[in-house]
Amino acid sequence: MKATALAGSNIAFVKYWGALDPEAHLPLNNSISLTLDQANTLVTIEFSPHIGHDVVELEGRMAEGRVRARVVRFLDELRRLGGSGDHARVASKSTFPVATGLASSASLFAAMAVAGLAALGLAPSEREVTTIARLGSGSAARSVCGGWVEWVAGGRHEDSYAYTLRPADWWPLRDIIVIVSEAPKESPSLAGHAAARSSPCFLGRLARAHQHLALVRTAVLTRDLEALGTVGEEEALLLHAVTMTADPPALYWLPATVAVMRQVWQWRREGLPVYFTLDAGANVHVFTTPEHTPQIATSLCAIEGVQRTLVCQPGGAPVPGDVHLF
Ligand code: PMV
Repeated sequence: MKATALAGSNIAFVKYWGALDPEAHLPLNNSISLTLDQANTLVTIEFSPHIGHDVVELEGRMAEGRVRARVVRFLDELRRLGGSGDHARVASKSTFPVATGLASSASLFAAMAVAGLAALGLAPSEREVTTIARLGSGSAARSVCGGWVEWVAGGRHEDSYAYTLRPADWWPLRDIIVIVSEAPKESPSLAGHAAARSSPCFLGRLARAHQHLALVRTAVLTRDLEALGTVGEEEALLLHAVTMTADPPALYWLPATVAVMRQVWQWRREGLPVYFTLDAGANVHVFTTPEHTPQIATSLCAIEGVQRTLVCQPGGAPVPGDVHLF
């Protein structure tokens, strides 16, 4: 009745922003991401008749309020699937700062789905696990799969699933995560999805996302960094254009965010194969080839306001853990 799983976060090149169904996290467009190997969340879950109420300990602290309610809602879904009335104890530990726009909800709910289903003795298909993880956080569907992953929008629960386009070893790109802030972001993604439709840029972003899908699929299949990077940058800028012009607006960028983006453009003018993308936060993902990674990571650390970098490679699907968190 106790199980542990380790799942990687992911970074999207075609983004999910704005929902068809905000409760079931059904997106308006397919999205494509890369699962990351060094930005992980480890989750242990135990269901037991001896536990009096759900105990949710995230990153060493008892979760409260909205965050706890979201985890408990997901536990309810797992209990419904397993036909269990037991309360649960959950603990998580991540290798990167959470709630800072680095898709920590993706790795958290992917690991919770995998560990929770195992703890309940259930063994659904990977496709089913992606739909279940999606109920915790939309982007978590993609973190159930390894490598280059497409999430099919679907339109209803069973049809909105993720699958691996190409495995992690297909293309040895590096994602240098540039951490400019470890502070939890002020506007959570759920509020951002809800506000997105009020932006005058919303429909433009959606139309581009549909066009970008085929471009990114082809870029992944042909290992075309220029095509992938060009689209990934535009997707990030469109997403932020939507957040900035929505009601209520959200401006996630810090001075160092802008400095990193400008530096990436400068490097490209100098001929380096380097591109950025961002989720809904201040931290930046910088993509390049393995050869250029050490020098670029060192130079990024010298930019004022950059706290540290975390270099990731493509990562695999979640794995069961032998050592439990409690
Ligand atoms: O899964 P959510 O609700 O946290 O949404 C994540 C949205 C972005 O990270 C900004 C984009 C994406 O597709 O991952």
